[in-house]
Amino acid sequence: MENVKEAVKNIYNQFDASHDFQHIERVLQNAETILATEQLADAELVRLAVLLHDVSDKKYTDSKDTENQLINTLPIDDEKKEHIREIIASVSFNGGNELPAKTIEAKIVRDADRLDAIGAVGIARTFAFGGAKGRKLYDDEEEARTAMSEEEYRTKSTASVTHFYEKLLLLKDLMVTEKGKQMAEERHQFMLSFLKQLKNEREGRA
Ligand code: ADP
Ligand code: NI
Repeated sequence: MENVKEAVKNIYNQFDASHDFQHIERVLQNAETILATEQLADAELVRLAVLLHDVSDKKYTDSKDTENQLINTLPIDDEKKEHIREIIASVSFNGGNELPAKTIEAKIVRDADRLDAIGAVGIARTFAFGGAKGRKLYDDEEEARTAMSEEEYRTKSTASVTHFYEKLLLLKDLMVTEKGKQMAEERHQFMLSFLKQLKNEREGRA
């Protein structure tokens, strides 16, 4: 586990701040909180999958080579290696068309990762990602966009705030573990108050 941590740190730290090693550290913390309520889960497998889940993220690389190489070096049997690959494949949101999280370990990693996409951290990451892509903070017709299809959002959006409507505000209802659902509530409310405050400030309210 410690060896893998060291091996992945440099990879993540080449990504922008939305997916750097701090993201992995926070997802590990979320996973520990959920693991404490899920006695049947294989905790070590969850931790390994968290460490490796974004090394070959398609936003940063075209191939799964790094992920496969790192998994192959793990001192675990082939069945567990396959399970880690499966967990990673089921983590991504993929516009709501994600693969099912079949095992309890996959459910925990998915919820832990999604918790890091919402709340205060989710807000910070979204603007970090948007900044790295040179995007605007928000579009002028944000409210009109809630009526657009997801596909339209993706192709037309050039602003960070749009990401709240296309993904972040949907995540609360997509949590699959009991603890994850509970943890998502406060983070979700925090995003709603952020959006309300943003609107007020944009309008120069006193
Ligand atoms: P997933 O692993 O579920 O596919 P992503 O890696 O795409 O999730 O997204 C993780 C986080 O990166 C998002 O929650 C957001 O903070 C940031 N991000 C990703 N895509 C975008 C985007 N199009 N606009 C703004 N932020 C984004
Ligand atoms: Ni992630």
